Amino acid sequence: MKLNTINLSDNIEFIKSLPDNSIDAIITDSPYGLGKKQNLVKLLQAWVTTGYYEITGTGFMGKKWDAFVPQPILWKECLRVLKPGGYLLSFFGTRTYHLGSLAIELAGFEIRDCIQWIYGSGFPKSKSCLKPANEPICVARKPGPVQLLNIDECRIEVADNDKGHRPNWEAHSTVKTGNVYGKFDHRITKRLADGRYPTNIIIDEDVAIQMDEQSGISGGDRRTAKFQTGTNGNFTTAKAGQLTPCYNDKGGASRFFYVAKASPSERAGATHPTIKPVKLMTQLVKLYCPEGGVVLDPHNGTGPTCEACLETGRNYIGIDNDPVSQKEANERIKRWHKKQSNTILKETA
Ligand SMILES: C[S@@+](CC[C@H](N)C(=O)[O-])C[C@H]1O[C@@H](n2cnc3c(N)ncnc32)[C@H](O)[C@@H]1O
Repeated sequence: MKLNTINLSDNIEFIKSLPDNSIDAIITDSPYGLGKKQNLVKLLQAWVTTGYYEITGTGFMGKKWDAFVPQPILWKECLRVLKPGGYLLSFFGTRTYHLGSLAIELAGFEIRDCIQWIYGSGFPKSKSCLKPANEPICVARKPGPVQLLNIDECRIEVADNDKGHRPNWEAHSTVKTGNVYGKFDHRITKRLADGRYPTNIIIDEDVAIQMDEQSGISGGDRRTAKFQTGTNGNFTTAKAGQLTPCYNDKGGASRFFYVAKASPSERAGATHPTIKPVKLMTQLVKLYCPEGGVVLDPHNGTGPTCEACLETGRNYIGIDNDPVSQKEANERIKRWHKKQSNTILKETA
């Protein structure tokens, strides 16, 4: 298995050449399947029996590859090569998410979550629809031992004014939930100074600004704030007057989410119509693949998943059947290596 390669091939054919249980995570931006509506009854019958239904036509911007979402036949191969307990993440469009995630589930994966990537830069195509502002990411898992996520590597940074501040969490270790959700250990969110626990919403700067305008600014030094008791007695057993654990930072609602947006220079002249920002892919790679592991992207495009792997010490295997995309992805990788060697040269000068 050749690591750190971008392979020009049909994804199913290529994955057939990979050994069983050899991949740590599959993270991919699948075709959203924005082509014509299919005969759902016939499609589902085919998916349940063979995992494949013949699709014709084109999808987004007349692209043939976007005619429909990937089918169970692809995800079955992905299931075979993924390590037990490993994660599969796939972007889908809001209109086709249900079919895309169903195909994954039919192949034998467990659906675990749906991350929402929310942004301000979409534009409405007509007055028959709303301005698009989110793209769902299906989070699925191959059955097997539970793999913990790399939460601490992905915590959302707390504001500068709070750097180095570490409240005494031990003072709060008696705080437990009560009757509603059962007991859970608050120490899971203990490492306050290392940042907030990552959420299943990821937003860009435009949305952060809008969100903060609506939420207003709150926070600040709440180390002296007190728990209230009584009104929701089911929810906390904290005693009246107990100190509130807090991050001691100030700002709007956007503080709770990781902010991601592709920089205009990121395209670097690439012609691909659906380029994903590296910053976003980096957060997903860090969360769902262990350091030093292997990420497979079967819809590699211009390779932001590969760049995210380079950035975070993971290995990649990219597959795309479009030669232009393969070329643009290889150029991206070259640019990354050049930037690295320039930085090293500067540091040693
Ligand atoms: C949504 S795009 C991915 C774009 C990528 N995230 C980026 O930022 O550049 C989907 C990609 O899947 C590729 N693709 C579609 N069907 C494929 C297949 N059967 N085998 C290999 N690649 C395929 C297309 O050529 C396209 O580049």
